[in-house]
Amino acid sequence: MFGAMRHHWLLLGACGWVLLILMFVSRFITFRAVDDYRERLGQSWTVAGSKMVKHIPVSIPERQAPRASPQPSAVPAAAAYWQEVAEKRIESLSAVCKNSSLRNLTHVSISKFVLDRIFVCDEHKILFCQTPKVGNTQWKKVLIVLNGAFPTVEEIPENLVHDHEKNGLPRLSSLSAQEITERLNTYFKFFIVRDPFERLISAFKDKFVANPRFEPWYKHDIAPAIIRKYRKSHRSSNLSASGLHFEDFVRYLGDVEGRRRTDRQFGEHIIHWVTYAELCAPCEINYSVVGHHETLEQDAPHILKAAGIDRLVSYPAIPPGITRYNRTKVEHYFSGISKRDIRRLYARYQGDFLMFGYPSPDFLLN
Ligand SMILES: *[C@@H]1O[C@H](CO)[C@@H](O)[C@H](O)[C@H]1NC(C)=O
Ligand SMILES: *[C@@H]1O[C@H](CO)[C@@H](O)[C@H](O)[C@H]1NC(C)=O
Ligand SMILES: *[C@@H]1O[C@H](CO)[C@@H](O)[C@H](O)[C@H]1NC(C)=O
Ligand SMILES: *[C@@H]1O[C@H](CO)[C@@H](O)[C@H](O)[C@H]1NC(C)=O
Ligand SMILES: *[C@@H]1O[C@H](CO)[C@@H](O)[C@H](O)[C@H]1NC(C)=O
Repeated sequence: MFGAMRHHWLLLGACGWVLLILMFVSRFITFRAVDDYRERLGQSWTVAGSKMVKHIPVSIPERQAPRASPQPSAVPAAAAYWQEVAEKRIESLSAVCKNSSLRNLTHVSISKFVLDRIFVCDEHKILFCQTPKVGNTQWKKVLIVLNGAFPTVEEIPENLVHDHEKNGLPRLSSLSAQEITERLNTYFKFFIVRDPFERLISAFKDKFVANPRFEPWYKHDIAPAIIRKYRKSHRSSNLSASGLHFEDFVRYLGDVEGRRRTDRQFGEHIIHWVTYAELCAPCEINYSVVGHHETLEQDAPHILKAAGIDRLVSYPAIPPGITRYNRTKVEHYFSGISKRDIRRLYARYQGDFLMFGYPSPDFLLN
């Protein structure tokens, strides 16, 4: 009888928990649909005016201590749950970093290339490693405002967002060795990842298919170089007329040795497809949080809170489903590409899959 009662209470507890999570999730369902997520995201960030920013004490919250919140509302429960998810991710990242058989896929040196990727918000003691194609421009805009160079996100001129001499959001590489170490040891540090293969598809579409006019080098320099080296029958085709195929791109990315020289020629542009390990050195730098694009609805508020800036900014509405992993799309892009090429690509990006807990894409490999 005692056993049955216990069972009863457990069930009740579980129901309560599910209800709390549902209440939290429902906050995101009422957002209006936004047709162009990337473009419009920036406009809907709300940031408190610079005046208010000054009044908020700069403090980094204790990351380990649970956020004691006396009032039993739904949001703190869900937030506490997500805090746990985020901590588990960091633990599993650190376990993969310790796996010596994966060393050459997970460990990189903290080079100038890595320090160039990391932006510094001294005002709130935050370091942000930029990883393209996960809404990073928006995070940068918020940090620019928090650093005080502009009062609101809307007032930052588009051409200044990536001009780190003028926008008041310096790169970590611009500081002295001592200043760098000090910040790496004490600041809140984060970056965002997404499924590694979906990320490569996104980079391919964005840089070689959509091909905006203001980035002509992808079409005129990088694509022909990849085609010349990796397309089986490039002699019979007209390089400038036929664009890069996803197949060419996959063979280039999976070619561990051959890539080294090409990547050096391509310069900074490789940030769109080199591994997250190479961009942010997650095994060398103790990041506080690694957000996932697929769960941005939960990760964005968690990051703001963990960084101690949730009262200054709020994350814009994310249209439901827009960040979800789309297996159909991945299958579509990889259909017709040889298993050998896909397996080589996976071997090259396996570190990213394992470090951030993405399941290996067995439906493509076997
Ligand atoms: C290290 O990674 C390899 C490859 O994923 C795996 O087979 C092995 O079990 C891992 N070792 C440990 C100690 O986790
Ligand atoms: C990592 O090392 C293994 C052997 O230990 C090798 O087979 C693999 O090609 C290497 N990967 C990279 C990216 O260098
Ligand atoms: C290749 O295509 C471009 C654009 O369509 C054209 O201007 C050029 O003459 C072609 N070259 C050859 C060798 O066919
Ligand atoms: C990172 O954190 C772990 C555990 O908190 C610690 O053992 C390690 O020394 C730290 N590494 C650096 C480079 O700060
Ligand atoms: C997934 O991708 C496919 C192919 O690109 C597309 O037709 C479909 O609408 C996408 N599904 C979702 C839920 O976005």
